[in-house]
Amino acid sequence: MTDRFLRACRRQPVDRPPVWIMRQAGRYLPEYRALRAGVDFLTLCRTPDLAVEVSLQPLRRFALDAAIVFSDILLPLEGLGCRMTFTPGPKLAEPVRTRAQVDALVRRPAAETVPFVAEAVRLLRRELDGRTPVIGFAGAPFTLAAYLVQGEGKEGFGALKTLMYREPATIEALLETLTTAMIDYLRLQAAAGAQALQIFDSWAGLLDPGSYERFALRWVREVVAGVRDAGVPVIYFVNGAPHLHQAAAASGADVLGVCWRAPIDEVAARVGPVVALQGNLDPHALFAPPDQVRRVTADVLTRAGAHPGHIMNLGHGILPETPIESVHALVETVRDWAPVTASAGARA
Ligand code: CP3
Repeated sequence: MTDRFLRACRRQPVDRPPVWIMRQAGRYLPEYRALRAGVDFLTLCRTPDLAVEVSLQPLRRFALDAAIVFSDILLPLEGLGCRMTFTPGPKLAEPVRTRAQVDALVRRPAAETVPFVAEAVRLLRRELDGRTPVIGFAGAPFTLAAYLVQGEGKEGFGALKTLMYREPATIEALLETLTTAMIDYLRLQAAAGAQALQIFDSWAGLLDPGSYERFALRWVREVVAGVRDAGVPVIYFVNGAPHLHQAAAASGADVLGVCWRAPIDEVAARVGPVVALQGNLDPHALFAPPDQVRRVTADVLTRAGAHPGHIMNLGHGILPETPIESVHALVETVRDWAPVTASAGARA
C-alpha cells in the first residue's frame, strides 16, 4: 500500500509529497454527474454502495494518495433532528436560533442515526484492500453552528454573528452539543476503518482572533483530544484565515490544512515544524492551461519543500467546472516530483 499520505501526516520522510483533492468525488467528474442524474444527493450519501462508488471514481482516473468517504459535513446533523435539503447548497428546514431549540436537539449515538456512513467507510476499506488510505471527516463545531444558525450558506453569516454577540451562552451551548456529537461521529468512522480524520472549519475566517479562540478553536481542541485514542492522524482544515494560522496550528491536530490566500512557505514560517501542512493551490488555478497548472503546482511544492510533512491539495474544494486535464496536470506533477536533496538544491 502507498502509505506516503499517512507518513506525511505524521511528518515522517516520504519518497515524494502525497496528493489528494478536497471534494475529489464530485461534480467535475462526468461519471459523478451521470450517477447523480438518477439519484438525489442525500440518497447518494445514505446508500453505502453508491457512496463507495462515488468515492472510488476519482481514484480510477488519477494517481491519488488518499480516498475520502463520500458524505457531507451536514449529514450527521440530521441525527440531531435537523432536517435539510441540498439544492445544491444546504438549506435547513428550521434554523436553530434560540436556547430552547438548542436544548431540544436530539442527543443519540451516531451509530444509530448515521450507520450508513460507518458502513460506507467499511466497504471503502474493503474495496481498496489496503492500496489507498481512507479519510473520514466531520465539520468543525463552529462551521456546523454557522449553517445551523444561519439556515444556509450566506456571505458573512450575519444571523450567526449577531447571535454570537447577543447571546454567547446560546452559541456556546450549541457548540458544546456539536462537539460531543462530532467526537462520537469521528470515532465511529475511525472504528469502521477510517485511517485519518479531517475536520473542516470552512467559516473560521469570519472570526477575529479572540472570537476564534472562544467560539471555534477551543471546541476543535476538544474534538481532536476526544478522538486521539483512535490512533489515527487528524487534519484540521481552516479556510480563509491566514490571520489565525498560528493559533490554529496549536489545535492538537497532526496536520493544518490551509487555503490559498497566504503562500505556503509563509504559513510554514509562521507555524513552525509543529504540524504538517496541507494545501494550498487556489482551486481557480486549475482553469489555466495544463502547462501553467504544472508551473503553479511546482511552485507550491517548492515553497513547501523544506517543511516537515506536506500534503499537496487545493486550498479549498475543487470547482464543478474544473477541466479534467488540469487535474491530470496537477496529480502528474506531484507524482513525478523528486524531493530536492540538500546538495542538489545548493547553489554553486
Ligand atoms: O471531498 C469529497 O469528495 C467528499 C465529499 C464532500 C462533500 N462535501 C460532498 C458534496 C465533503 C468532504 C464535503 C464537505 C463540505 N460540505 C464542506 C466543507 C468543505 C468546504 O467546501 O468548505 C461544506 C461547507 C459543506 C456544505 C455543503 N454541501 C455545501 C456548501 C454544498 C453546496 C456547495 C457546492 O459545492 O455546490 C454542499 C453540497 C455537496 N456536498 C455536493 C457534494 C458533491 C454537491 C451536491 C450535488 O451533487 O448536487
